[in-house]
Amino acid sequence: MATSESRRSFMGFAFGSVAAVGGVFSLVAMKKTWDPLPSVKAAGFTTVDLSGMQAGELRTIEWRKKPIFILKKDESMPRDEKRDVVVGNAAYTVVIGLCTHLGCIPAYTPSEQLFKCACHGGEFDVSGKNVFGPPPKPLEIPPFKIDGTKLVLGEEGLEYKKMIAEA
Ligand code: FES
Repeated sequence: MATSESRRSFMGFAFGSVAAVGGVFSLVAMKKTWDPLPSVKAAGFTTVDLSGMQAGELRTIEWRKKPIFILKKDESMPRDEKRDVVVGNAAYTVVIGLCTHLGCIPAYTPSEQLFKCACHGGEFDVSGKNVFGPPPKPLEIPPFKIDGTKLVLGEEGLEYKKMIAEA
């Protein structure tokens, strides 16, 4: 037989459940009014035209408040079949410029062809692979799509999906 205590908890639970269900409904209703327009979603994409880049040049751009390093490899830089973004005959390293140790922004040193992290001495090669110090893994590759000579950051194109599948 249920005690008054257990009945009270049951009522409490039942009321809580109704309130939770009501909450879900109102969240769904609110989400409908909050859903961003397609143009707002497109704001998550950043398009970069790579055609003007020189061999060996590094560009840093911002995408979703993160630094993105785009390095056009020159002939002295080793190619990396798994990580290079190939556009035409050129190979590019496209990585999120945040150290995979604790998130500092590494600086590129062209004379050594290394991205060096000043925080704890981590180093990454020109393909963004960790080669020294505490970083546990390579610099991350952001989702991208190739559109002619343009790089569209934020969209998962075929090249990106293939790269991730092989990683
Ligand atoms: S944050 Fe880069 S080495 Fe620690």
